[in-house]
Amino acid sequence: DYQKHIRNFSIVAHIDHGKSTIADRILELTDTVAQRQLKSQMLDDMPLERQRGITIKLNSVEVKYHAKDGEDYIFHLIDTPGHVDFSYEVSRSLAACEGALLVVDASQGVQAQTLANTYLAIDDDLEILPVINKIDLPSADPENAKMEIEEMLGLDASDAVEVSGKTGLGIPELLERIVTDVPAPQGDLEAPLKALIFDSKYDDYRGVVLAVRIEDGMVKPGDEIEIMNTHKKYEVTEVGVSNPHPVKKDMLVAGDVGYLTANIKSVRETRVGDTITSAQNPTEEALPGYRQIPPMVFSGMYPVDNSKYDDLKEALEKLQLNDAALEFEPETSTALGFGFRCGFLGLLHMDVVQERLEQEFDLDLIMTAPSTDYHAIMNDGTTKVIDNPSDLPDVGEYKEVQEPYVKAEIMVPNDFVGPVMELCQRKRGEFQTMDYLDKYRVNVIYHIPLAEIIFDFFDDLKSSTKGYASLDYEIIGYRATDLVKIDVLLNKEPIDALSFISHRSDAQARARQMTSLLKKLIPRQNFEVDIQGAIGAKIISRATIKPYRKDVTARIHTGDPDRRAKLLDKQKRGKKRMKAVGKVEVPQDAFMAVLKMN
Ligand code: GTP
Repeated sequence: DYQKHIRNFSIVAHIDHGKSTIADRILELTDTVAQRQLKSQMLDDMPLERQRGITIKLNSVEVKYHAKDGEDYIFHLIDTPGHVDFSYEVSRSLAACEGALLVVDASQGVQAQTLANTYLAIDDDLEILPVINKIDLPSADPENAKMEIEEMLGLDASDAVEVSGKTGLGIPELLERIVTDVPAPQGDLEAPLKALIFDSKYDDYRGVVLAVRIEDGMVKPGDEIEIMNTHKKYEVTEVGVSNPHPVKKDMLVAGDVGYLTANIKSVRETRVGDTITSAQNPTEEALPGYRQIPPMVFSGMYPVDNSKYDDLKEALEKLQLNDAALEFEPETSTALGFGFRCGFLGLLHMDVVQERLEQEFDLDLIMTAPSTDYHAIMNDGTTKVIDNPSDLPDVGEYKEVQEPYVKAEIMVPNDFVGPVMELCQRKRGEFQTMDYLDKYRVNVIYHIPLAEIIFDFFDDLKSSTKGYASLDYEIIGYRATDLVKIDVLLNKEPIDALSFISHRSDAQARARQMTSLLKKLIPRQNFEVDIQGAIGAKIISRATIKPYRKDVTARIHTGDPDRRAKLLDKQKRGKKRMKAVGKVEVPQDAFMAVLKMN
C-alpha cells in the first residue's frame, strides 16, 4: 500500500525552458521548503550552478503532497540539466523514475534537447507528461507548442498541462496530474534488496554518499550490503532522503529514492550504475546499469604549483565519483611537468570540471587547449589513438590521420537557414538533408568534424541565428582528413603543451594567429623571446617579444606604499596562473590560445 502513494519522476527539457523554476514552485506549493528559505533555482545548490544559472548535476528531493483525493503522497522529484554535455546525468535520473515531466517553453516550442531527452525517456519506458511552461509570456503560443509535441515527438499533447513557473499559474493542476498520470512504483517489498546507484558524492565526514533507487526489498542501518559489480561488502551506517537537505530515516523500501552511507572510504569502490543487494540474501540479477559515455574532448591539466600533484590526483578521484563521465590518466609534459590528460564530454563539461576543482578543492590549475582524439593509421597498419596533439608521430611515420565526425542536427526558423548553412560550410561541414518541421521551422542535418563543433560552433550558431537555433549532435565515426601537427617553439624550444592539430588548409592562418596571440599574451621577460610556429622542420609563422627595460614598480611614486603593495600583490596573483617554461614565464591564457582562434 505504501508504494501506491509514491511517485518518482524527473523533470527534463531543453536548456532554459524552466525545469528548475518549476521545481522551485513545486517545493514552495508543497511547503517542502519554508517560504523564508526559498531562493530561486533551489535545487541548483552547487555554487557554480548558481553563478552560471544552469543545472549541472541531477538533484533529487522528497516532496509530501496532500492530494484532492484526500490521500497523502510522496513525490521524489529529480531535476536534471538541459545542456547537451550533461545528458548522461539525464539518462541516470530517468532510470530511477517511473515518469518524466517534459517541459516545453511555450514561446520556443520543441528544441533539439527536447527531442533528445524525450527519446531517452521513451527508451526507459517512462510515462511522459508534457508540460507547457512560460504561458505568462506575451510571445507564448501554447497551441503551437502542443502541435509540435504531437508532430515532432509523436506524443499526445491534447491534455498537456499549461503552467508558468514564474507566476505559479497551473502548478496546482500539475501536482494533481503527477498523482493521476505518473505510475506508482511496483517493486517487491518481500524480495531481496535490489537498489540502483544513480549518483554519488564524497563527503568529508561521511565518506561516500550514494544516491539510490530501491527497486525491491528494503535497507536499514546495520544491514550488510554487497555491491554486485565489485562484490565488496559494507555495513550500512545511515539511510535517508533529501528534502533538499539530508533527513535521516529508519529505512528505505522498494519504490524509495534516497541516500545511503556505508563507510565506503575509497572512491574507487563504487560506480554509478552499480547494483546494491543484501550480502546475506542477494538478488540473482544485477540491474542493467548505464552505458559508459566515452569522452570526446581532451585536455592536459597541471597544477600551477608542481608540489600539488598528489592533491590534484585526490581531487580528481573524488570529483570522478560525482561525475562519472570524467576520465583522467597521468601525463608528463616537458613544459608543464606532472599532470593528467583528462577526457570530457564537451567544452562546457571541461570548464565545469576546472572550476569545480578550483572552487571545491582549492587548486590552481593550468589547462592546455582542448582537442578531440585522433586516429593515426601507422605505416604498419596499426592504429594509434592520439588524445594529445603533441603525441602525433612525425610525417612519414603514418599513412593517414582520422578525426571524429558528428551528425549535427540544427533546428532553426526558416529565415536563418542561410546563415546556418554558411556557418556549417565554413566549418568543413557536408550537407546531408533538410526537413521542414512545420511552416516556419527546418531541421538541417550536416556531417561536421567534431573539432569544428567544439571550437566556438555553439556561440557562432547562436549569434548567427539570434539565439533561435538549437543543436544536437552524435558521433558517427572517424574519417581521414588532411591534418597536420603544428608545433610552437619558444626560443627554438618546442613547447609540447602548445602543439595543436589543424586541417592543412587552415594551418598557415592558425599558426600565424597563434604566434601573434602568444606575442600579446606572454609578458615581456628580461631577454628577447622568439615565438615560432612549425610543421615538422618548416617554420610557418613567427613573432618576437622584446625584453623589458624597467621594474614594474619603478614608475610609481614612492610616497604611495599602498599602491605599490597592491601592484606587487596583483603581480603575484597573476603569477599563480603562470608556468615557467624553460626560462620563459607563460600565463594560462597562452595554453588556451588555440581556443580563441577561429
Ligand atoms: P537548465 O537547468 O540550465 O537547463 O535551465 P532550466 O530549464 O532549469 O531553466 P530555469 O528554471 O533556470 O529557467 C530559465 C529562465 O527562464 C530563467 O531566467 C527563469 O527565470 C525563466 N523562466 C522559467 N519559467 C518561467 C516562466 O514561467 N515564465 C517566464 N516569463 N520566465 C520563466
